[in-house]
Amino acid sequence: MIELKNVSKWYGSFQVLTDCSTNIQKGEVVVVCGPSGSGKSTLIKTINALEPFQKGEIFVDGVAVHDPKTNLPKLRSRVGMVFQHFELFPHLSVTENLTIAQVKVLGRNQTDAQARGLKMLERVGLMAHKDKFPGQLSGGQQQRVAIARALSMDPIVMLFDEPTSALDPEMVGEVLDVMVSLAHEGMTMMCVTHEMGFAKRVSDRVIFMDVGGKILEDCSKDEFFGNPEARQPRTKDFLKKILQH
Ligand SMILES: Nc1ncnc2c1ncn2[C@@H]1O[C@H](COP(=O)(O)OP(=O)(O)O)[C@@H](O)[C@H]1O
Ligand SMILES: [Mg+2]
Repeated sequence: MIELKNVSKWYGSFQVLTDCSTNIQKGEVVVVCGPSGSGKSTLIKTINALEPFQKGEIFVDGVAVHDPKTNLPKLRSRVGMVFQHFELFPHLSVTENLTIAQVKVLGRNQTDAQARGLKMLERVGLMAHKDKFPGQLSGGQQQRVAIARALSMDPIVMLFDEPTSALDPEMVGEVLDVMVSLAHEGMTMMCVTHEMGFAKRVSDRVIFMDVGGKILEDCSKDEFFGNPEARQPRTKDFLKKILQH
């Protein structure tokens, strides 16, 4: 579903991604972790062309992201993205947030878009809040709306960039629950997260990135968590720090 081949990116002379290659199969759940500044956000944003890159190739469901002839808005409409800070429109109701892109980008009529949006809102357990504005919802609820909004576009893959790291601790679970159910339903997912419980429970693979945008590890979850001797020293050090408490 997603194929990265030797992707490199620079900001001026600073290399932010270094020769990144990986493959994500349909239905696979891949967790991306690593220290702050290691290029995790940049990496997943290259997949829907929110970040351009200078070298390498990316294919999403066979579509060449790097090809100037590719219709990027069309590609982006099929790749769901959920950010740390939700990015809902504050002046629009929940229902309007769920429908606007379906109408403007996919060309759906208002009735169909609303039906689809509300179905996804139901799925994340927030139907009772359909007429509220984002500011009237908790962070966890806003993030669930953001997930419902992405799902309303019928994405072929979902990208998550630290979806729980801006939340109060007691709201993390409700967002992870939605992500776990998506994973169980067979959604192809790439998730930047440090929720190692989530990674252990539902991921198929774990990618570990280090400073300079290098993929240091790309292995099965069992290999990543169950075979520490085989990990790079940098990975062991990182895991020790985040699993210590
Ligand atoms: N627009 C930019 N210009 C220059 N450097 C940037 C820009 N955006 C990000 N960076 C740098 O690229 C590196 C990787 O950033 P990022 O992908 O956000 O890392 P992560 O998500 O792993 O914390 C960081 O060192 C960051 O400072
Ligand atoms: Mg980031």
